[in-house]
Amino acid sequence: MGERLHDKVAIVVGAGSTPGETMGNGRATAILFAREGARVLLVDRDGDSAEETRRMIASEGGEARSCVADVTSSDACARMAEACVEAWGRIDILHNNVGIGGMGGPVELTEVAWRRVLDVNVTSMFLTCKHVLPTMERQRSGAIVNISSLAAIRAAPYPMLVYNTSKAAVNGLTRSIAMQYADRGIRANAIMPGLIETPMAMEGIAAGLGISRSELKRRRDAAVPMKHMGEAWDVAWAAVYLASDEARYVTGVLLPVDGGVTLKG
Ligand SMILES: NC(=O)c1ccc[n+]([C@@H]2O[C@H](COP(=O)([O-])OP(=O)(O)OC[C@H]3O[C@@H](n4cnc5c(N)ncnc54)[C@H](O)[C@@H]3O)[C@@H](O)[C@H]2O)c1
Repeated sequence: MGERLHDKVAIVVGAGSTPGETMGNGRATAILFAREGARVLLVDRDGDSAEETRRMIASEGGEARSCVADVTSSDACARMAEACVEAWGRIDILHNNVGIGGMGGPVELTEVAWRRVLDVNVTSMFLTCKHVLPTMERQRSGAIVNISSLAAIRAAPYPMLVYNTSKAAVNGLTRSIAMQYADRGIRANAIMPGLIETPMAMEGIAAGLGISRSELKRRRDAAVPMKHMGEAWDVAWAAVYLASDEARYVTGVLLPVDGGVTLKG
C-alpha cells in the first residue's frame, strides 16, 4: 500500500465500469486511491458495478463502500455527500468521472440526446460540487478532480457536438470553482484524457462508427504520437497526483493525459 493519500476520504463518482475487455477510468482511479491509503465512497447508478469495484479494493485490503446514486439528481447527490460524512466524518477528495458519449452534429442529434448528455456530463458535476463543497469549506480543505476530455479543446475527426460542448463546459466549471475557492483551501482541477482504451470509448465509438473494435484500435493507436492509446491507469495516476497534497499549489489546471496528441497542430 502506498501513502500518497494516507488518511484521506474520497468520493469517486462513476466508480463502476462499462463492461468490456479493459477497465474504465473511474474504477482504475478508485482502486489507485485505495492503494494509496484513501477510504473511498464508490458512487454509481449501477450498484452491481460499484460493488464489483468494492470487492476488487477489499481483496487488496483497501477500505471502500459503495453508494447507489444517479448524479443527475440533486437529492441523490445530497445523499451521497451525507453518506460519506456519516461513514468517515469528512470529504477530502471529490473525483467526478461520470461522462457519456454523444455522436452526431446539430442536425443529426435529437434535442432529447443533447439535453441528456449535458445533464449527465455537466449538471452532474455542478450538483456533486454543490453538495460536497459546504463540507470542504467547513474543513477549509479539499480537492476536486473533474474528468474532462481532450474533446473540450480539439474537435474529433467525426462529429461529437454535444460531447465536445459538454467537456468544454467541464473545463469552465472547473476553473470557475478553482477561482472562487482558491483562498479557502479548496483546489479544483480537470484531467483531459486523450484516446484511452476503455470499454465505454472502444465499444461505444466502434458501434457509433459501424466499425470493428480492432479497426478502431488501429486508427486510435495510429493517431497518437506515442503510437498507442492510453490505459485507464494513466488517467488514474494523474488523478492521484491532483487529489494528493503533492499538488497543494496546483489549482485550475486542465491537464492533458494524451500521449502527445496535443503536440500535433
Ligand atoms: N476513454 C476515453 O478515451 C476517454 C477520453 C476522454 C475522456 N473520457 C472520460 O472518462 C470518463 C469515463 O470514464 P470510464 O472509462 O470510467 O467510463 P465507464 O463508462 O467505464 O464508467 C463510468 C461509470 O459512470 C456510471 N454512470 C453513468 N451515468 C451515471 C449517472 N448519471 N450517475 C451515476 N453514475 C453514472 C456508469 O454506470 C459507469 O459505471 C467520462 O467522463 C469520459 O468522458 C474518456
